[in-house]
Order: sequence, then C-alpha cells, then structure tokens
Amino acid sequence: MYESFFIETYGCQMNVADSELISGMLIKEGLKPSDDIENADIIFVNTCAIREHAEDKVHSRLGFYNKLKKDKPEIIIGVLGCMAQNLKDSILQNKTYVDIVLGPDSYRKIIDLIQNRKKEKLRSIDTNLSRYEVYSDILPSRNKGINAWIPIMRGCDKFCTFCIVPFTRGRERSRSLDSILNEVIDAVDSGYKEITLLGQNVNSYKFENIEFHDLLESIAKIKDLKRIRYTSPHPQDMSEEVINVMNDYENICNYVHLPLQSGSNRILERMNRTYSRERFIDLYFSIKEKLKNVGVSTDIIVGFPGESDQDFQDTISLMQEVKFDSAFTFKYSSRPGTKAANYNDNIDEVEKQVRLQKVIDLQKIHSMYNNRKIIGNIESVLIEKESKKSELKWTGRTESNKWVAFDKKYSHVGDIVNVKINQTSGISLQGDIVTSQEMEIA
Ligand code: 5AD
Ligand code: SF4
Repeated sequence: MYESFFIETYGCQMNVADSELISGMLIKEGLKPSDDIENADIIFVNTCAIREHAEDKVHSRLGFYNKLKKDKPEIIIGVLGCMAQNLKDSILQNKTYVDIVLGPDSYRKIIDLIQNRKKEKLRSIDTNLSRYEVYSDILPSRNKGINAWIPIMRGCDKFCTFCIVPFTRGRERSRSLDSILNEVIDAVDSGYKEITLLGQNVNSYKFENIEFHDLLESIAKIKDLKRIRYTSPHPQDMSEEVINVMNDYENICNYVHLPLQSGSNRILERMNRTYSRERFIDLYFSIKEKLKNVGVSTDIIVGFPGESDQDFQDTISLMQEVKFDSAFTFKYSSRPGTKAANYNDNIDEVEKQVRLQKVIDLQKIHSMYNNRKIIGNIESVLIEKESKKSELKWTGRTESNKWVAFDKKYSHVGDIVNVKINQTSGISLQGDIVTSQEMEIA
C-alpha cells in the first residue's frame, strides 16, 4: 500500500546527509523516492532546531502537509531530526496528523514504524539518543551532483551556551576509519569529484588513536579523489597537524570555515567558546601564512544576551583585522533548554537587526576586497552547474570556495579547469577558461 516517499530537508548539510541515509534505508526496503510531494504515500520532513526561524519554516510546511492529509488520510507524515527531538511533546499534542516522530539517533526504526502503521494506525515516536549510533553500515542514496557528503562523526560535546545541538544530537561519537574510507571510495567510484567530511565538530574526530589529521591524510591518499573539504571545525581543535596535512596534499582544498561567533572576550566566555579573541586572530593568521591562497569563512552571532556596544564593536574590529572571505551571520535566537536561554539580559530585536545589518554590510566590503585581490590569478575551478544568468556559462568553485562564472568552452560539469579571474561583482567572480597551451605560454 505504501509505495513512494518524499523527504523534505531543512537545516545543515548534516541533515542533507541524514536524508540521504534515510532514503537509502527506504529504497532498500523497496520504496520509491518521489519528486512530487502531492502524490507520495509517505512524507518525511527532516528538521532543524538551531534557530527559531528554522522551526517556523517547518511549522508552516506542516500546515501544508496537514492539508494534503485531509484529502488523503491514508498518507504517513513523519517529523524527523532535531525538531522532532526538541519538540516531540508539542508535536504529538498539537499536530495530530503527524504519525511518526524520530530523533537523529532513531532512524533505524523507520522501516518498522512504517510496517506497524500499516497494521495498527498507531502514532509512533522514538527520540532516544545513543552514545554509539553512527549508521556506518547503511549505504546512503546520494543526491546527484558533484559533491558527496560523508559524515565522520555525530553529536557535539562543546555545549556552547547558545546552542541546542548537544541536546538534539547528543554526545560526540566518531565513525571507524575503515567505514569512512570505504564510503569515500564508493563515492569516488560512483563518479563524485568532491567529498565533504561532515560533523558538528568535525575536527574533534577521534576513533581509537586516529585523530582528524590522520583521517584527512588517509583520505587524501585515495586514488582519483580530486577534492576534499570538511565542515565545520571548531577553532579550539584546529591543530597545527591539520593545517600541515592540508598543506601537504593538493586534493585537500585550501579553505577553512572557522566559526568566530563573537570578537569580544567577555561574550566568548559567556558563550563557552573556549578560545579568546587573541587566540582566534593568531590561528587565523597562522592558517593564512601556511596555506597559500586559502579562503576563510566564518559564523557570527549578533545580539547574544548582554552584548554591549563595546562587545559588538569588538566583533567589528576583529572582522576588520582579519577580513574574512565570507560570513554566515545570525541574530541570536534563544533556544529553550540551553544555558543562554536563562540569561535575562536579552538584546532588543530592533537593536539586533541594526547590528546584523552592520555586520552584513562590512562583510560585503571584505568579500569584495578579497575577491579583487585575486583578479588576474589562474584558479583551479570544479564545474558544478550552469550559471543562472546565462546558459552559455558554467559556475563552479575555486579551491578557496569562491564561486566563478565563465564561458563553457568545450568543458563539462565535473571537470576541473583553470580559470583566469577577470572581474568581481561582489561575492562572485567572473573569468575565462585557460587551456593547457595558454597555461604553458603564461
Ligand atoms: N542563535 C543564533 N545563531 C545560532 N547558531 C547556533 N545556535 C544559534 C542560536 N541560538 C549559529 C552559530 C553556529 C551556526 C551553525 O549557527 O553561529 O556556528
Ligand atoms: Fe553548537 Fe558549539 Fe557544538 Fe557548534 S560547537 S554544534 S555551536 S555546541
């Protein structure tokens, strides 16, 4: 009776990888992925709880699923992931049309629950967190594309005071080296040109005596693997060994996402980030010095409880000192259950918005500044897709994670080509493919 499923994914890349894992399990049981939500027998939404805004989006989607279910009461609706973990009671109580609620460590139950549903029409829930679950033995059904997501660890033990992740995804645990290597080899054999190693705290990977830099090195030696990325590392665990391995292997992209959160020591301490402004700046410049042409991006939160004008200025001045290539910027969003949710010196929403805009505007200037600096360079670019602006152009990313558009000129998606950077219009770049003969002449 249940033949097809549709999974909608919100939130981080880890959720994308989890949805691929769930698809893998469902396909193995004979269900078919559908690309039409209105005709699917089972609808899953893989959710994110990191900010209130992320939850709001899912709530509004759930309203739409409810409408679908009114027309077709036999369909199954399942809420998966971090919001399921976080809001199970309110979902069960207020959203009676939701049949299945599964947290991030309970996906193995999915098949049983669908079978039970066939028999008994009961609502099912499992949000137990595990100290061991890493789903190593399950083959994901990957989305098409050039990049394969490879989770290497799950959970987080850092307990930043603003963050819900340690509560929704549980304790940190790493996958075995062998299971990761096998998955990477499988992805390369299936034609993926780039892999991105994933974890909430990717560089605190530890399996037996193997640390993140050992893992990176083993992966870098895999034949025909053209590009390796990883996200997100924590500044505290960004060791010299990691930077050295990045330097030693050409297929590890010169790009680091280094989440700052705040430039004020007082706020960093209150956030429990475990590094100081000075340590972050040192780390930033040592990465810049050791890795040629490296791109560095960051995450910044404005309006954390108690953030004074001076604290905010410290964030601005740090940004000015380092000049990130790009930044994901957020207004602080209180997450019930976290330590910071109990701080009672919240910043006014209007002020948060003003600060956010200042950070966005400054980052635009810095992105432009860094992009201008590489005009004239020849960059290696992995072609990802057709440009939205012109069907005559491709777009792809440099190793340093900058988007470049250029004329197609006998190349294909998945090729790595040399592109001479000619112009920038702010965040993205424009260039021209340089052939190998032209490279020799240059
Ligand atoms: N409010 C705003 N931003 C948050 N992040 C995590 N928790 C919150 C929160 N409560 C941001 C951090 C993190 C990124 C993934 O999301 O910047 O690095
Ligand atoms: Fe959240 Fe901090 Fe863990 Fe990142 S390191 S997932 S921000 S608790």
